[in-house]
Amino acid sequence: MTQDELKALVGRAALEHVVENGWVGVGTGSTVNHFIDALATIKHRIRGAVSSSDASTARLRAHGIEVADAAAVDVLPVYIDGADEIDGKGCMIKGGGAALTREKIVADLAQRFICIADESKLVPVLGRYPLPVEVIPMAAPQVARRFAAFGGQSALRVGVLTDNGHPILDVRGLVIADPLSMETEINQWPGVVTVGIFARHRASVCLLGTPGGVRTLTF
Ligand code: 5RP
Repeated sequence: MTQDELKALVGRAALEHVVENGWVGVGTGSTVNHFIDALATIKHRIRGAVSSSDASTARLRAHGIEVADAAAVDVLPVYIDGADEIDGKGCMIKGGGAALTREKIVADLAQRFICIADESKLVPVLGRYPLPVEVIPMAAPQVARRFAAFGGQSALRVGVLTDNGHPILDVRGLVIADPLSMETEINQWPGVVTVGIFARHRASVCLLGTPGGVRTLTF
């Protein structure tokens, strides 16, 4: 199976976690696009979606799925999103699609985070994938110097601004053995809008696409 077929497999499998007549939090990316397409087949059984990006909002609306503002919702039963990497405890690197800030905001509203990913995303230790960090532009050089002290080499993502109008630093060379403490540390740095470590908002469940079918990891 191709990587895209594995993404489609878990996109469909995630329907099982959608709560009848409830709101569903929707992430961003190519795996989530498959989920959105599958969600359209049961759209009459949900109240609507809370979206984490302009791109996902457009796709949901194109399917005729109602999209509510995150600010209008107190709690979501479930949030479904992909990941760039996920470790054995459900901690993730996210932000490859530059949607990390709104993804963390919507995930924070949710009671359960269901990660959908092809098997290449499962890693023993986070950090091989460059860590995305949304920053305020004037802070970018200082944030890069702070990462250098941790062995990270930062580069601004060329030609990309987030839906919030900020640049992204991609940081290579990190070994994120303790994701929660690293997320906590980076969150203290002035000018960091969002770091793409999702440890406080780690997955409750990961549906992993493998050639043998969907493997369910529960954390
Ligand atoms: C977007 C994300 C995505 O979930 C992540 O990049 C995975 O994307 P894909 O499903 O296309 O592999 O965090 O900001």
